[in-house]
Amino acid sequence: MKILVTGGAGFIGSHLMERLLAAGDKAVALDNLSTGRRENLPAEAEFIEMDVLDEKLAGVVAAGRFDAIVHLAGQTMVSTSIEDPALDAGQNILGTIRVLEAARQSGVDRVIFASTAASYGNVPEGDLPIKETRRRAPMSFYGLSKVTAEQYLDLYHQVYGLDSVTLRFANVYGERQGDGGEGGVISIFARAVARGEDITIFGDGEQTRDFVYAGDIAEGIRAALTTKEVNAAYNLSTQTQTSLRELVNILSNIVGRRIIPKYGPERPGDIYKSMLSNGRARRGLGWKPAVPLEEGLRRTYEYFRKAAAL
Ligand SMILES: NC(=O)c1ccc[n+]([C@@H]2O[C@H](COP(=O)([O-])OP(=O)(O)OC[C@H]3O[C@@H](n4cnc5c(N)ncnc54)[C@H](O)[C@@H]3O)[C@@H](O)[C@H]2O)c1
Repeated sequence: MKILVTGGAGFIGSHLMERLLAAGDKAVALDNLSTGRRENLPAEAEFIEMDVLDEKLAGVVAAGRFDAIVHLAGQTMVSTSIEDPALDAGQNILGTIRVLEAARQSGVDRVIFASTAASYGNVPEGDLPIKETRRRAPMSFYGLSKVTAEQYLDLYHQVYGLDSVTLRFANVYGERQGDGGEGGVISIFARAVARGEDITIFGDGEQTRDFVYAGDIAEGIRAALTTKEVNAAYNLSTQTQTSLRELVNILSNIVGRRIIPKYGPERPGDIYKSMLSNGRARRGLGWKPAVPLEEGLRRTYEYFRKAAAL
C-alpha cells in the first residue's frame, strides 16, 4: 500500500511514519514544517515540504498514485483557535477540503482523518466514557473546525463515493510531542522535570484525562487503513481516566524522586473530567491500546531527558 501522510513530520505523524516504514509500507510524509521537524522523521523516509493549501497539492497526489491519505496536518492549538478562528478554519476546514479534492481527483481509495475529543465539548461526569454517538458540542473553534471537517468527509462519501475513516483521538502523548498543541500536559511536565524546572497544575489536580500513547495511535491509524468498516468515526482512547495528581506520582516513580507541583488557578474553558469509550474501535478496527501509561511515560521522559542533555 502507498500512503501519503500529511503532517507526517509532526508528533503523531512521525510515530506513524516509523510504524508504516517498519511494516514495509510505502509512506511519504508531506508537511509545511510549521510545527513539525524534518529530524522527527526516520532518515530513509520520503519527504515533501509543502502546505496542504498549496495549489500544487493535487498534482503531487496525482503523481504519487497513493492508495490512501492520512490527513494529520492542521492547526492543533485550542488557544490559537480562540484567538484567531479564521486562521483555524483556513487550516482545518479548507485544508481538509483541499486534501479531499486531491484524493477524489486522483482516485485515492480512502482518507483517514485526525479528529479529536474536543469535538464533544464538556460532558457531565455521569455520561463518561463518551461514545461516538454522542451529540457533539465543541467549546472551541478548534473543536468546531474538526466537526465541520468530519462533515465534509461524510458528504464527500455521499456525493463522490470517497471512502474515509474518522479517528477521534483522546489526549495523545509520547516522544517528540511539541509543547503547544492539544493534551500536551505530559510533554510539558516531562520536559520541565527533565530540565529540573518546576511544574504547575492549574486547578485542584483532580481533573482527569484519557492519555493514549502515540505509538498506539499509530497502530490505530494502521488498522483504519485496512478496515472494511469505513465511513465511520472511531474514538482512539484507553477508556481510563488519570488525574494530574496521579500523573505526577507516576512521573515521580520514574524519576526516582518526589516531584512537588505548584498550583495555579483553574483555566477557563478547561474540561474537568475526560474519557472516551473505545468499544467501537475494538470491534470495528480490531484495535486496542497496548502501552500502559507507566511504560509510555517512561519512554517519553527518557526522550526529553536525552533532549535536555544535548
Ligand atoms: N496530540 C493530540 O493529543 C491530538 C489529539 C486529538 C487530535 N489531534 C490531531 O492529530 C493531528 C496531529 O497532531 P499532532 O499532535 O501530531 O500535532 P503536530 O503539530 O506535531 O503535527 C501537525 C503537523 O502538521 C504540519 N502542518 C500544520 N499545518 C500544515 C499545513 N497547512 N500544511 C502542511 N502541513 C501542516 C505541522 O508542521 C506538523 O508537522 C492534528 O490534526 C491534531 O488536530 C492531536
